[in-house]
Amino acid sequence: MATRRPFFAGNWKMFKTGGQAAEFVRDFAPLVKNSDHCDIVLAPPFTALEAVRTAMEGTNIELAAQNVHWEKEGAETGEVSGSMLVAAGCRYVIIGHSERRHHFGESDEAVHKKVKASLEEGLLPIVCVGETLSERESDETQKILERQFNGGLAGLTPSEFSRIIIAYEPVWAIGTGKTATPETAEEAHALLRGLTRKAQGEPMAERLRILYGGSVKPDSVSGLMAQVDIDGALVGGASLKPDSFAAIVNHR
Ligand code: PGA
Repeated sequence: MATRRPFFAGNWKMFKTGGQAAEFVRDFAPLVKNSDHCDIVLAPPFTALEAVRTAMEGTNIELAAQNVHWEKEGAETGEVSGSMLVAAGCRYVIIGHSERRHHFGESDEAVHKKVKASLEEGLLPIVCVGETLSERESDETQKILERQFNGGLAGLTPSEFSRIIIAYEPVWAIGTGKTATPETAEEAHALLRGLTRKAQGEPMAERLRILYGGSVKPDSVSGLMAQVDIDGALVGGASLKPDSFAAIVNHR
């Protein structure tokens, strides 16, 4: 079986100014400087990208944005393009987070356009999928994950697909303190790996990294990471403090 390098990303959402972000990196970087078993990524708000980029120089931390527009430039007030993110030092971009889908009406079609445009610019997309509580309770989890997977990732070439990461984030677990049990999360991850197998073949399914997101905390990460199809975590609340995010990264 392929060994997939663990991946931990902190999604800061709409938290931290540039100054607060730089202070975080100063405190956090020493706590993970020997954590070479995994990739470590921070996704600050756009206004703090530059501060994090400067503060993380010479560290093993990499930079992600939380959103991107699919056009290179244009009359799109309030939006930021992939080439701008690359110029700002980003290697990764989070796409289709449930808060974007549910608070800002982002569709699978928009996710698809953002994934394609990001790949064209050389960014590595972290594509989020996940069902709501009512979808889970009405037994629609599989249908929703299939729709989001097929809609967002349709028609990617093998070379494009090899550069994406998927994050399974059940909406009912995000910011609620209700982490999915490792077994529930594993079931969804296995389903997503199965969809990848069907669309892109076995080697791609084996190499794809699938992160879990939704109330991951230092005390829940080990159980999740013990599952065969869980390759890392996309962490919101617990990534805002250097010691708790470092405890997640260094969980073993
Ligand atoms: P949470 O957020 O860890 O605060 O639940 C996760 C996410 O939304 O990426």
